[in-house]
Order: sequence, then structure tokens, then C-alpha cells
Amino acid sequence: MQTHREARPTRTDGRGETLTVVDNRTGKTYELPIEDGTVRAKHFRQIRAYEGDFGLMVYDPGFANTASCRSAITHVDGERGILEYRGYPIEELAEKSSFLETAYLLIHGDLPTKSQLGQWVHDITFHTYVHENVKKFMEGFQYDAHPMGMLLGTVAALSTFYPDAKQVSDPRSRDIQTQRLIAKMPTIAAFTYRHNRGLPYVYPDNDLWYTGNFLSMLWKMSEPKYAPDPVLERAIDVLFILHADHEQNCSTNAMRSVGSSDADPYSATAAAAAALYGPLHGGANEAVIKMLMEIGDKNRVPQFVKHVKSGEGLLWGFGHRIYKSYDPRAKIIKKTADAVFELMGANPLLEIALELERIALEDEYFIERKLYPNVDFYSGIIYQALGFPVDMFPVLFAIPRTAGWLAQWREMIEDPEQKIARPRQVFVGPERRHYTALVDR
Ligand code: SDX
Repeated sequence: MQTHREARPTRTDGRGETLTVVDNRTGKTYELPIEDGTVRAKHFRQIRAYEGDFGLMVYDPGFANTASCRSAITHVDGERGILEYRGYPIEELAEKSSFLETAYLLIHGDLPTKSQLGQWVHDITFHTYVHENVKKFMEGFQYDAHPMGMLLGTVAALSTFYPDAKQVSDPRSRDIQTQRLIAKMPTIAAFTYRHNRGLPYVYPDNDLWYTGNFLSMLWKMSEPKYAPDPVLERAIDVLFILHADHEQNCSTNAMRSVGSSDADPYSATAAAAAALYGPLHGGANEAVIKMLMEIGDKNRVPQFVKHVKSGEGLLWGFGHRIYKSYDPRAKIIKKTADAVFELMGANPLLEIALELERIALEDEYFIERKLYPNVDFYSGIIYQALGFPVDMFPVLFAIPRTAGWLAQWREMIEDPEQKIARPRQVFVGPERRHYTALVDR
């Protein structure tokens, strides 16, 4: 299989890579350089039709065809269903790596040596506690507050505990905040779960591995020491690997955009979590379960599909801006689900989901729109079988994605080309007009 770089043809006639543009308004011709399959938007500014003309911009709602940065972190080939973190196929990482090792890979660019991994695990483990005032802060939330709202509010509040985080140009500060955020996300997430149940918070048990410690903070009751089930611990570790990064998705764009103003990484991470909260993004796994529960029975799937095709609603967990084929993560999640269902019992919603997938993949409406199951279609079914309440699902997405957000934020800060994000607009408002007194309106 060709790599993405090999697939790109290079000219052999020495003309180099350029785009010739003729402005038919003026008859002028322009040669625009092509770099890495892109044309820099600034090269269009020279194309003017009249004196005082600002010059051409490119208009791209939702940035559907706009590269905002050069990144070496994650490569996604939507046509071929390929996902690689720093060049490593997601399938190999899900099978052979751990979440913390994958987080190291995303942040530092290479798989760690044994000693580097040992130090990384120690550093993360060392920072799992939160300041006691965080508990007091969280007690202010309603008993039934949505855990994702509590998580993003508490992460933003962390910025007030670490004023040194404002030193975003200091690599040492970036490293310590990176460790703190990766380490504290499970602690805060578990606190939101315990808060909703009126249960006492469980402190981190640093004898346990990252995901086992998370399960302990969630589910430990009166036993002296929580013993995580290895099957469940591995299933969550794999799910965390799959959710760790996904190039320039909506929440990563928020992380980069907020971070581009030199805001501290806690505030930027809270903004990213807020973007992830949306049902079109990380909130989709919650919407999938609600959709499956609303369908209620596999025999009612055809009726629901008809409802979607009439434009009355979305098939949640289907479709993707990049993947126009099967999301490779969904395939791995389906395999991971088998191990969980064997231990916890199958989730009755799985039968409905499989029937929904079967029908949708044969239906012209979804085929012509290249709509396939994405990462959220099956993840919720596993999380529910693991015993998580539906409103915890976006929180379970945010924990591992914090590693990806931080890797992207660090890359943006270190990129000499990057500057504060400030898009232009096409103004379609009223022509200049003058104020009229209230009596005259
Ligand atoms: C994630 O970007 C990432 O990488 C995100 C993510 C990550 O790891 O960070 O992968 C995680 O967010 C996965 C996506 C989870 N969201 C959902 O499952 C929500 C349902 N999906 C849709 O909302 C939609 O598919 C999006 C938002 C995911 C993508 O939307 P696009 O790329 O803007 O596509 P579109 O809205 O232009 O859709 C193209 C057509 C439209 O129909 P027409 O107007 O051409 O007739 O497909 C239709 C859409 O109406 N369509 C759907 C559909 N998704 C798109 N129709 C029914 N059900 C759907 N799910």
C-alpha cells in the first residue's frame, strides 16, 4: 500500500508545482505555488478586480477543505479508512500498546524506551491528586449536574490553582501542565460520577495502573483496596487508545484556537472539552444510546431508517467529515465489545445496533452519502455494558482525548508559522446608515 506521501504525484517537466489562475474579470493570469497539496490562502490576496479591492479570500464554512496547520501527530486517510498516530497504525497500537504509552507517543513523537516509559508513568502517577479545594468547588454543582459540564468547569478552574501555566513559552511549564492534565482528568471524571451518586470521593490509588486507578476512583466502596477486573481494565485502556487523537477535529481546533492567544492549557482544554460536549462531536455516543433505546426493538429499525431518510433526524454514530469509509476505530471497538459482553453479559441494544448497521450499509441513501459507523456508534454500547451511565460517555471520550489535545497544543505553540487564530468573514450586513432618535423610529 502506498504511503500518503508516495501517493502524491510529482511533476517531471521541471515546471514545479504551481496553479495557473486566470481572473476572467480582468484577464490577468497568476501563478500560485502549490505546497504539500495546498495553495496558501494569502496568495489569492494579489488577485484584485479594481482599485482598493481587498483581494480574493477563500470561503470555507466549517473548514471542510482548509488546512489550518502542518502537523506530524495523526494521519487519517478517510477514503481508505486509515488512522495512524505518529506513523503507527491504530490497529497495532490497540493490540500491543497501552494508553499511557500511546499518550507518550502522541506527546513526544516516538515510542518510549523502557526507562522513558517508567519515568512517564511515575510522573503521571505522581500528579493524580487534585487540590482539596477542588472537592469543595465541585460540591457547588447540583446533585444531577451533567458530568461533562462539571468536568469542563472544573478543568477551567484548575487554571486558578496553577498560575505558572501561563508561561506557555516555557517548555518546562508545558511539560508539567501536560503531566498534570493527563493525570488529573480521570480523578476529576471519577469525582463527577461519585458526585452524581452522592458517594464519597475515592482518592487515587497509585499502586494501580492508570485505567485501573480510574476504575478504583469510580467504583471502590468499603473494601480496603479495589481490585480492577483485568478484562475491563484492558477494554477501557483500548478504548482510551482509540479516542486519544484524531487530527484537526472540532475540539482540537478549539484547543489550538484558544491556545493561539497564549491562554493557559487548562483554559484551552476546557474549551476543547466544551466543543467535544456537542452531540455532533463527542456527545454522539450518548445520542447513539438514546437513539437505540428510542428504537427499542430490531423490528422497528426499518421504520426508524425511513424516518432518517425523510430528513426528520440523524442516524447518530454514522457519518464523518473525514471517513468516507468504515471508521477503523469502530471495527476495533466491535472486537473489544465481545470480550466485555462475555464478562458482563451482552447489551440488548447491540442487536438493534447491528441490524441498524446492516440495513444502513445496504441502503442507497447512506451509500451515496458515504455514511458509515464512526467511533461513537459502538463505543456507547460497550460503556453501557461496563456499567457507565449514558451521561458519562462524553467524559470517557474527554479523558483520553486530553493527550491528543495537549500534543496538538504543544505542536501549535512550537510551530513558528502559527499565530493567533483570527479568520476573516464575508460581510453580508446592511450598508452604512445613521442613527435615528427613538421618537423617529
Ligand atoms: C466524532 O472530526 C473528527 O475527527 C471527529 C471524531 C474525533 O475522533 O474527534 O471522529 C469524533 O465527532 C465522530 C462523529 C460523531 N457524530 C455523530 O455521529 C453525529 C451524526 N453524524 C453527523 O452529524 C455528521 O455525519 C457529521 C457531523 C459527523 C459530519 O458531518 P459533515 O461532514 O458536515 O457532513 P454533512 O453534514 O455535510 O453530511 C453530508 C450529507 C448531508 O445530507 P445532504 O444534505 O447531502 O442530503 O449526509 C447527511 C447530511 O444530512 N448526513 C447524515 C448523517 N451524517 C450526515 N444523514 C443522516 N444521519 C447522519 N448521521
